[in-house]
Amino acid sequence: MSGKAQYPKMVVMPPGPKARELIRADESYISKSVLRWYSLAVESGSGCIVRDVDGNEYIDFNSGLAVLNVGHCHPKVVSAITEQTKKLIHYSYTDFYYQNIVDLGRQLAGITPGAFSKRVFFCNSGTEAIEAAMKLLKWHTRNGLFIAYTGAFHGRTLGSVSLTASKPVQRRHFFPFVPGVTHVPYPYCYRCPFRLSYPECELWCADFIDEEVLSKYVPPENVAGMFVEPIQGEGGYVVPPDGYFTRLRKILDKYDLVMIDDEVQSGIGRTGKWFAIEHFNVLPDAVCAAKAIGSGLPIGALISKDELMDWEGGAHASTFGGNPVACAAGLAVIEVIREERLLENATRQGAHLLNRLKEMQRKYEILGDVRGKGLMVGAEIVKDADTKEPGPELVREITMKCFKRGLAIVTSGKSTMRFAPPLLITRELLDAGLDVFEGVVKEVAGSVK
Ligand SMILES: Cc1ncc(COP(=O)(O)O)c(C=O)c1O
Repeated sequence: MSGKAQYPKMVVMPPGPKARELIRADESYISKSVLRWYSLAVESGSGCIVRDVDGNEYIDFNSGLAVLNVGHCHPKVVSAITEQTKKLIHYSYTDFYYQNIVDLGRQLAGITPGAFSKRVFFCNSGTEAIEAAMKLLKWHTRNGLFIAYTGAFHGRTLGSVSLTASKPVQRRHFFPFVPGVTHVPYPYCYRCPFRLSYPECELWCADFIDEEVLSKYVPPENVAGMFVEPIQGEGGYVVPPDGYFTRLRKILDKYDLVMIDDEVQSGIGRTGKWFAIEHFNVLPDAVCAAKAIGSGLPIGALISKDELMDWEGGAHASTFGGNPVACAAGLAVIEVIREERLLENATRQGAHLLNRLKEMQRKYEILGDVRGKGLMVGAEIVKDADTKEPGPELVREITMKCFKRGLAIVTSGKSTMRFAPPLLITRELLDAGLDVFEGVVKEVAGSVK
């Protein structure tokens, strides 16, 4: 399953007989709260290729939901995990000591923006990193109010879901949440919440936070901090305009407020930089990361300015957090990204991806907006380029047709196709996936007119 061979390889129309059998069993035992994109029943993966139980091989533009930045089962990651399991699988770092968690802490502190000294709290997932940040902010500031964005996704546990404002289904029937969260509009220029245009708007969406929110009904001296996705992930791969984050940072500094940068989806090289916030020339006070650190093993991290992480012993901990096997995977992931120059590859292939999508946009009206950084790219599908009416049925059709033809891709926001292949994707494989995508878009666009 290397990048050179002819992919995708479809041997049976999915879902094949084995997939159908697996799905039937799944329907009997697995929680009804999960919602699958399509009937992809995975058996194995290698690099950028994922194979289903019936032998079909798909080009993976999902990376297991932005987790497999170094591809499926990278040999160095597999070897690091295997070796670690022979030595030590668990011993709870919040109670005792072991070496590789310190090594990973040092590495993460090194790649996170800011030359200041940092500390890391390790946990098991993105949502836990956000929970840790919420608790740390409360502890450090003794304040109870938070600011987050509409369209944000920060997780699904009761603290993080209080910040999440992406889809009603994620919140319905779960109230009340952590009190004191104010949501402000995300800088989403294609669908400006204020119906303004950039740059004539002069970044009113940032000033709004100062002039309307903090000056009128959210007293800054009671705010614990603000949570920011540098590129909104689940909200639709939305990229803020130039200058937005520097303006926001100024506002936060004016009131001495902390900025928590949620890089759970955008971090660990996805955008061609270690962290997406680096594209915008601002320094956050702390960064939350998870997904791609462990290449599939559960691990999350809150990487904070030393002076912010001043809570007392016993204030927060986790039995499994920073498990030594996951740390071994994390160290291998960082090494692979460096050795194989994957930040550079993500930048190079990402530019090609964006160009090809922009070319398609000129041909097919249903591609309303194309945006992204590195290999975190979205193509917003609309029913009509002028009215910009979202096309949720169209993205469902496109996604399903891509799947049937061997391209594993999913959506985000209301109707945005999300392109997030492993960072090691080759030009050949990227083009092969984009050829499948374009074929489908052509067909679907033809049926719209
Ligand atoms: C930006 C962001 N934050 C937090 C989370 C939650 O991470 P997890 O699913 O590991 O809890 C996600 C998950 O998609 C995410 O994209």
